Amino acid sequence: MAKLIGVKKINTAVLISGTGSNLRSLLVFFTNKNSNISIKLILSNNPKAEGLKYAKIFKIKKKIISYKNQKLAEKKILSCLKRNKINLVCLAGFMRLLSRKFINSFNGKIINIHPSLLPKYKGLNTHERVIKKKERYSGCTVHYVNHKVDSGKIIMQKKVRINKKDTAETLSKKILKQEHLLYPKALLKIYPNL
Ligand code: GRF
Repeated sequence: MAKLIGVKKINTAVLISGTGSNLRSLLVFFTNKNSNISIKLILSNNPKAEGLKYAKIFKIKKKIISYKNQKLAEKKILSCLKRNKINLVCLAGFMRLLSRKFINSFNGKIINIHPSLLPKYKGLNTHERVIKKKERYSGCTVHYVNHKVDSGKIIMQKKVRINKKDTAETLSKKILKQEHLLYPKALLKIYPNL
């Protein structure tokens, strides 16, 4: 497909703390010369995050930010984002909370993926709680990040049926598969508003 002239380019940074399977799915989806959304940078607070390996595989920059001091860490992240001309931040299993100041300075251009049908089951250990409550459905949500945990405006959701035999582990696997499909779709959806 021919590249359109004058269309806006969205440079994305993905923040991770662990496996990075959502990061991988974004990289696979958007690693294409004609894409107007590109993943330029991987940031991790965890030097041992498995997902950091994708920097080498996909030939993009990575940076590890120590979180011993949150204020300093956020300052470093912000300057790194500016230096790399990032205009969208995707959280993908990033296990640190972002301050109100940081979120405001990015002006609504931070999104996150959460493994439940928000506003239900915000926070950690989602699948365990869902199974305990004997829910029939769960799923995943991509949402904008605001100053309250998992509470920003919802962009897209995908419902997943829970079987009687499902455990937290099997449910987590089923939902993660759907997360990998949902996150790129959500980026395409918000692209006109970025
Ligand atoms: C995903 O389930 C995501 O929804 C949650 O953390 C997990 C990260 O998994 N926020 P991965 O690192 O992308 O594999």
